[in-house]
Amino acid sequence: MKKIKQSIKTCKSLKDLEQLRLSLFGKKGFFAAEFAKMKTLPNDEKKDFAQKLNADKDLYLNLLNDKKMILESIAIEKEMKENSVDVTLFNSTPTSGALHPVMQTMDKIIEYFVSMNFSIQEGPLVEDDFHNFEALNLPKYHPARDMQDTFYFEDSMLLRTHTSPVQIRTMLNETPPIRVISPGAVFRRDYDLTHTPMFHQVEGLVVDKAGVVSFANLKYILEDFLKYMFGDVKVRFRPSFFPFTEPSAEVDISCIFCKGKGCRVCSHTGWLEVLGSGVVDPNVFEAVGYKDVSGYAFGLGVERFAMLLHKIPDLRSLFEGDLRLLEQFR
Ligand code: DAH
Repeated sequence: MKKIKQSIKTCKSLKDLEQLRLSLFGKKGFFAAEFAKMKTLPNDEKKDFAQKLNADKDLYLNLLNDKKMILESIAIEKEMKENSVDVTLFNSTPTSGALHPVMQTMDKIIEYFVSMNFSIQEGPLVEDDFHNFEALNLPKYHPARDMQDTFYFEDSMLLRTHTSPVQIRTMLNETPPIRVISPGAVFRRDYDLTHTPMFHQVEGLVVDKAGVVSFANLKYILEDFLKYMFGDVKVRFRPSFFPFTEPSAEVDISCIFCKGKGCRVCSHTGWLEVLGSGVVDPNVFEAVGYKDVSGYAFGLGVERFAMLLHKIPDLRSLFEGDLRLLEQFR
């Protein structure tokens, strides 16, 4: 027994300790064998024998438990030491950041128009009724002013619903010839697969003396621009309506997913709508006091371009800040 006591004391691992426990308390262990001996003892010796054995049992149980606690705490400490994090360590492989895909797309759009001699003009995000609607030939009863679509403040102020008000600001501040684009954020009450309450547009405006700028110029530059953005696509102009242009056209490109054959993305039409455009309406020139001029304008949604360029199915994912998506644009 002394030997066993010594073995417990010097035991170095939980596994060895378990072996010792089995040799003492297992079915074929020391105590099982001792208690079995009782049967063969004379009755008057049984009581003393059992008492002694039970006392020994308690003693060894305690020895084992104490040793177990010690070995366990040593194991925990060892693991903590091995797996500890040195927060002072210098990370020598830093990962680089990247521009958001919407901003990358914005940059590409701006790059094209700057190369075509357009200058950049920005305007306020909080607009007044006159610049956002009235001067753009969107009179008081126009459905685009609906409370459902627009974030209004008091006193006819609102979050601009498009970048077109920058046209008005530019014309009021400058004299023709004018050749500007206006990139920036716009706001509408919308939220689904292809709409978010905040998104970005790029507006374009060209104004010169009457007769100098025509629909043909608009057609040329937009076609060239769309080929710069999307590569070898077909471009078509479809008659449409905007209050601030007359005539107006929506511009489509042949579907970049099915090459015009028809698929889910293009609703089986073979075409994708990407732009609004037109010849500036005389009412708009009148609102800013311009006479004897002509011009064209266009507007596009940057997120829509980004979605098409990168085949992003849900617009909302662009604004969730999920690094797993954003890292793909590094
Ligand atoms: N402002 C329009 C919109 O938000 C886009 C637009 C269409 C702008 C035609 C224009 C234009 O300048 O000529 O939907």
